[in-house]
Amino acid sequence: MPFITFEGVEGCGKSTQLKLLDDRLRAAGRDVRATREPGGTPLGERLRAILLDGARAPLDPIAECLLFEADRRQHLVEVIRPALAAGAWILCDRFSDSTEAYQSAGRGLDSAFIEAVDGRVRDGISPDLTLLYDLDAAEGLARTRRRDARTDRFQSEELAFHERVRRHFLEIARREPDRVVVVPAQGDAAAVFAETSRIVAERFAS
Ligand code: TYD
Repeated sequence: MPFITFEGVEGCGKSTQLKLLDDRLRAAGRDVRATREPGGTPLGERLRAILLDGARAPLDPIAECLLFEADRRQHLVEVIRPALAAGAWILCDRFSDSTEAYQSAGRGLDSAFIEAVDGRVRDGISPDLTLLYDLDAAEGLARTRRRDARTDRFQSEELAFHERVRRHFLEIARREPDRVVVVPAQGDAAAVFAETSRIVAERFAS
């Protein structure tokens, strides 16, 4: 069954879309596993707290990248592989494209280093479909400020960081058009969900 990942800049609405799709697929009687990175396992939730905590100790970019990859590896072994083996639908909020966009374009790490580590971590597993919710970075950040009481380590990065992340996501979509579908995300959640549903229905008989 499909392994679908949801990507995009802060405040693009991907988590809302994932929830709406989860509801729809469950209502249709599908076996669905909704999960997220960082997080998705007990270890992952602890790593998430370290990675997102705004008032943390300093975190070197390579150390940060390796913590995201540690999270991914545990998630792959504990959640994704078993769900694939069970024939479930997997809906995952962020995956490897986020590491490429945030740690390479955002933080400036060497993409060959990220690819090497990420390839070993994924061990041949790739999403069947990635929905990239594309939104102006400033608009997305404004949405998160209205939504969240506190800003996390990434939300508090400067606008230029988020613009680099957005551009890099779009570059990945151009590079891998068969896997990554760009979904314009400026509309309201219902309008964007009409598009999400259409893409998923077209790809997989859902
Ligand atoms: P998320 O929970 O999706 O935050 P939001 O809903 O606010 O977009 O993701 C947490 C943050 O972690 C997000 O700012 C992006 C960042 N991140 C990376 O930098 N690299 C990664 O590999 C992943 C998975 C997330």
